[in-house]
Amino acid sequence: MKTMLTAFSSSVGKKLLMAFTGILLSLFLIAHAIGNSTTFLGLDAFNSYAEHLHSLGCLISLFEIGLLLIFLIHVSVAIILFFQNLQARSTRYQVQKSSGGRTPGSRTMPYTGLIILIFIIVHLGDFHFIEKTTTIGVLVKETLSRPVISLFYIVAMAALILHISHGFWSFFQTLGINHPKYNCTIRTGGLGVTFILGSIFVLIPILALIWTGFLS
Ligand code: HEM
Repeated sequence: MKTMLTAFSSSVGKKLLMAFTGILLSLFLIAHAIGNSTTFLGLDAFNSYAEHLHSLGCLISLFEIGLLLIFLIHVSVAIILFFQNLQARSTRYQVQKSSGGRTPGSRTMPYTGLIILIFIIVHLGDFHFIEKTTTIGVLVKETLSRPVISLFYIVAMAALILHISHGFWSFFQTLGINHPKYNCTIRTGGLGVTFILGSIFVLIPILALIWTGFLS
């Protein structure tokens, strides 16, 4: 146990923790995006998907505890790395550019991460920790058709797209999968997944805002 803690407290260990928790969170996002895409099929389809999910009972509770743990590790290690980087910069010792060069995604990682953190707190308040007096589909429609909320969702989804566009690249770099022959495929693949995920997540608040037929 002590050896494991020592390994993870090293700088490489922390990067590995970030990479693995990041990829697990991305798997959750892929599943969540697939589930949420049933909103495009109408109210009944989305409600029926949500009912199936809830019928899994304590499996869902176990999954939520796991997800929370992974999320807490990801955020805590990110905060530690952020302050270590600041300290290293102030002592003029910091050469940690990714071999793919600085991109808007890599430069803004801590800030987009913070926006996503705020988003998740608001999001869980909107849909999870709320007493449901109506179906989940009606709740999503009513919540996201409020301009302030849907605009907030759109901004947060833009931050999410920037964040994971760099996250996928960073995952492969941390694992040492870095070769001129594959780098283009890795970058294009990462951007492709980001584009599909981002399009689904961003389209939902946009449709809720402009189309009265959404989720009806
Ligand atoms: C427009 C996009 C999104 C919509 C419409 C949406 C919708 C929902 C709904 C309806 C629930 C509640 C499920 C339930 O308790 O019955 C939920 C849960 C959740 N959402 Fe989202 N979501 C969106 C985007 C996101 C994003 C981008 C993230 C993460 C960055 C996220 C993270 C979560 C988490 C962590 C939960 C709790 C999961 C659980 O309790 O099992 N969501 N979402």
